[in-house]
Amino acid sequence: MTKPPVREIIATTPGIPASDGAGVRMTRIIGSPQLDMLDPFLLLDCFESDRPEDYIGGFPDHPHRGFETVTYLLAGRMRHKDNAGNEGVIEAGGVQWMTAGRGIVHSEMPEQENGLLMGFQLWVNLPAGAKMTTPGYQEFPPSGVPLEQRPDGTQVRVIAGKTAAGTAGAVRNDWVHPLYLDVTLPAHGAFEQAVEADANAFAYVIEGELATGPREQRLERRRLGIFGPGERIAVTAGDAAVRFLLVAAQPLNEPVARGGPFVMNTRNEVLQAFEDFRNGRF
Ligand code: CO
Repeated sequence: MTKPPVREIIATTPGIPASDGAGVRMTRIIGSPQLDMLDPFLLLDCFESDRPEDYIGGFPDHPHRGFETVTYLLAGRMRHKDNAGNEGVIEAGGVQWMTAGRGIVHSEMPEQENGLLMGFQLWVNLPAGAKMTTPGYQEFPPSGVPLEQRPDGTQVRVIAGKTAAGTAGAVRNDWVHPLYLDVTLPAHGAFEQAVEADANAFAYVIEGELATGPREQRLERRRLGIFGPGERIAVTAGDAAVRFLLVAAQPLNEPVARGGPFVMNTRNEVLQAFEDFRNGRF
């Protein structure tokens, strides 16, 4: 049996420096002029700094409507609190998957005054029929995120979706069903993952450099690579270990109207969101 085609990287981006919340410095990787979105992913931010002045202001109370936010912390601690009564601290290796739905107001504040804070926030769009769903959130401590250890030393943290070896992520997804893996390959390690043929997929390199596809394309540290068509993704490490995120999902193929923290299908729906927020209807 011949194997289905391996995907190749068709574009890469390092993102752009950005600032959000109360002056938190970050790199905006998706949701930038270079890469507006990768349906259904609306935004990917990486915050990474050991300088408190870059992050200490955090993200005080702000609203969201129409999508889901996924916070994955690699270092440090963040406290979140929302107007639905949820509160918790995300620790390094922990995940918070929040469904903003029809509206939530929350804060995300660093729970540290010094040291390294590093993590990602990914925005996953909701289909039109679910944009006004009841808000909800799922939170997993580091021990609640399944860790797959392979015989060759490869480690896969499964945030969402399922690996080729069958490890399923902790998150329950009712609408978009993304694959979200944090993969660490030892030197000369190899990794393969099947992805649906019509899914959009990207890799983001946290440490080291990976090679992928039949032409062994390189993707270096701090770059996002978008995969072209195919049914599986194959990654190898060179002389050094590599750590990367692998994220994929089927596109929604619906109109997207953005208005800051609100992402709807039409301009009118965005204006309605601003009005509802102003009038305390969140
Ligand atoms: Co937020």
